[in-house]
Amino acid sequence: MRVAVFGSKPYDQAFLSAANQALGEAGHDLHYFHVRLNRETWELAKGFEAVCVFVNDELTAPVLASLASHGLRFVALRCAGFNNVDLKMADQLGISVVRVPAYSPESVAEHAVGLMLTLSRKYHRAFQRVRDGNFALQGLLGFNFHGRTAGLIGLGKIGLATARILKGLGMRVIGFDQVFSEAAKAIGIEPVSLETLYADSDVISLHCPLTRDTFHLINEYSLAQMRRGVMLINTSRGGLIDTAAVIAALKSEQLGYLGLDVYEQEGDLFFEDLSDKVIADDAFERLLTFPNVLITGHQGFFTEEALGSIAEVTLRNLVQLGQGEACPNLLGSDYLA
Ligand code: NAI
Repeated sequence: MRVAVFGSKPYDQAFLSAANQALGEAGHDLHYFHVRLNRETWELAKGFEAVCVFVNDELTAPVLASLASHGLRFVALRCAGFNNVDLKMADQLGISVVRVPAYSPESVAEHAVGLMLTLSRKYHRAFQRVRDGNFALQGLLGFNFHGRTAGLIGLGKIGLATARILKGLGMRVIGFDQVFSEAAKAIGIEPVSLETLYADSDVISLHCPLTRDTFHLINEYSLAQMRRGVMLINTSRGGLIDTAAVIAALKSEQLGYLGLDVYEQEGDLFFEDLSDKVIADDAFERLLTFPNVLITGHQGFFTEEALGSIAEVTLRNLVQLGQGEACPNLLGSDYLA
């Protein structure tokens, strides 16, 4: 199958090419494009049977319609989230969309906990100080996680992996999900309402998908219900947080710490080296001025284990689609609501 791989970096190419080679005869004809797929770049995929895309490619209705008219049949997401694909339109056009629902949830969970510990113990600041011969501790005061309460919103694969680590640190873990699973119970997570989670948590970590229901879940009203000085972590999707509201809460010190691996407008910034460019996003720049804000550029998934698994599952999904076999990772009608 001829596949146009968009937004591909050297590391994507290395892992995809290795996984493709392992498929032998069943392997695909992969064409790598550095640019992201959107309404300006879609013509690069003219005549391809499949496109392989990532979190910030924009598979809007017009892009999908244009590609369908040039023979596109399959979209392979090399990620779990699919909020950047107009699934209804894809369905109408007869385009099958597959994803990688799980690929080392521990990679994101470990990153989330890394953000938490770094914000509390300020490793990033200590690293700079010690290299500069400054061994003063003033400004590095942290807090123990042991005995504190963590509130997790979304208890799927990553939420549960995060809970396991936090339990290991000796935290009380409470959680909110639409469905409270046996697995969550087995880990010892206490099911609570969102109101209780906001009121009781010292650390809140977001692990639910971005949907119409969860857009700006964290806003001025939810922030006001939280404990003063709370730590908020988002490794899920930027749109879960109203950026203006968290900036106001940081200024009033209602929000004590903010750790982000995702950002609402990250499509204009992340995955590129912009170090010699002027960044025009004032809200993002304001966030960077707070000493208690730590931002990483969507790297939660970025481990050897996760990239290997993503490449393998993505290419296997395409083999199954190409051979007309049932693919368990197809985004079917249950996702169209
Ligand atoms: P999952 O599908 O296993 O779990 C999501 C959970 O959220 C489910 O249990 C679901 O019931 C729950 N949920 C849905 N709507 C909710 C709501 N309104 N309130 C509370 N819970 C709700 O997904 P997984 O693998 O745990 O991933 C979670 C999210 O992490 C993904 O949606 C994706 O956005 C993000 N992600 C981020 C990565 C990164 O590199 N930073 C990498 C992979 C995923």
